[in-house]
Amino acid sequence: MSSRGCVAALFLAFACIAGATELLQPSSEHFIVSVAQLQAGSRAQFDAWAAHNNKEYSSAEEAERRLAVWTANVQRQASKLAAADANGAAAEVSVNGLADVSLEEFKAGYLGQVSRRNVEALEAGKKKDHRYRYENIVPPAEVDWRTKDIVGPIKNQHVGGSPCGCCWAFATIGVTECIVAMATGKPISLSEQQLIDCDKAAPWYDLGCEGGDFEGGVDYIIDNGGIDTEKEYPYLAHDDKCIRDKEGLAPKASTLDGFGHVPVQNETALAQAVSQHPVAVAVCCGDHIDNWHAYTSGIFKIPGTDIPGGCTDPLDHAVVVVGYGTTKEGEDFWIIKNSWGETWGEKGFFRVPRNVGAPLAAFGLASQPGYPIKKGVNSNADPIRTDIWQEVPRSPTAGTTATS
Ligand SMILES: *[C@@H]1O[C@H](CO)[C@@H](O)[C@H](O)[C@H]1NC(C)=O
Repeated sequence: MSSRGCVAALFLAFACIAGATELLQPSSEHFIVSVAQLQAGSRAQFDAWAAHNNKEYSSAEEAERRLAVWTANVQRQASKLAAADANGAAAEVSVNGLADVSLEEFKAGYLGQVSRRNVEALEAGKKKDHRYRYENIVPPAEVDWRTKDIVGPIKNQHVGGSPCGCCWAFATIGVTECIVAMATGKPISLSEQQLIDCDKAAPWYDLGCEGGDFEGGVDYIIDNGGIDTEKEYPYLAHDDKCIRDKEGLAPKASTLDGFGHVPVQNETALAQAVSQHPVAVAVCCGDHIDNWHAYTSGIFKIPGTDIPGGCTDPLDHAVVVVGYGTTKEGEDFWIIKNSWGETWGEKGFFRVPRNVGAPLAAFGLASQPGYPIKKGVNSNADPIRTDIWQEVPRSPTAGTTATS
């Protein structure tokens, strides 16, 4: 699956709703496996892990198959920990909810190619006569949109065992949910499936379970006069028949008015945007697929590399940056929402190093950030195609190679 980057932004200075602000704590809820016990046999710990993660397998054969996959994954993690430990030992492994998924399944069902869309816009960002909307913003030291009651629920793009490379739809919807909640004052859950089914033909060029990007996704929502809710148009994890307005409601649950680009390869510019609202980004996972698969908590780094995920790989995933901060020890990080369920990472979120001194940033996240724009609660304003760099038209032919 590819997510060609779905970006949603809202560019109006809406009053940010300072609603209920319950701070999300990083999860320490992952199952801890004892390496000594694992060596004596993995079944008991697998069963306890499966109960911990509410796993239900369709048959005894399936449970056996998952036990074997799980054991191989956990043993690989234990060996890596041991190799990184000066004493060559690892007593415990923190194991997330994806440990019964093989790396091959993970690659097929959780990642995808992200096409580099709208090249003119990205290039235009480097021109001196184009001005960045947020260039004069002085970003605060830290921002966490999860405390503002605007970030929608953590979802899982991989359900029912059928791989659907639609991270682009989850990133489009993830950032759109935030922008809509900021404009309306109410959190909302919107439909990925409508994008997967309908955002296909020209001029959007996304490819459902075969990939796409968040700019095309936002364009679809603009052109469709909105998007249905998750409840009206639930996620199926496969390509299905397009229904452009399931409940026959117009305007639909939410409308959008435009798409904004953040200057590429610039973490300062990204912080300026994220200080105003969440931003969708494309990342590359493939170089370090097993680290992504096994991530549980903390600032996600790749042992032995200075700049995590140097991104020699194509962009193969799309996610939503929902904040940033600095640890007590002085380490800068981004806070990112993923679409792999709540049993992965910090309750479905993860953190990566920030201000790493490399143009593409950690895992390439500064490659093509963007966001939807919403001017009012449900406005009928003429869509803004390009709000930041005025001379950048939407490219009618871009994005045909997207995968997600
Ligand atoms: C990065 O963005 C900042 C703030 O928008 C800007 O001042 C700076 O010139 C940009 N850096 C580069 C290398 O473009």
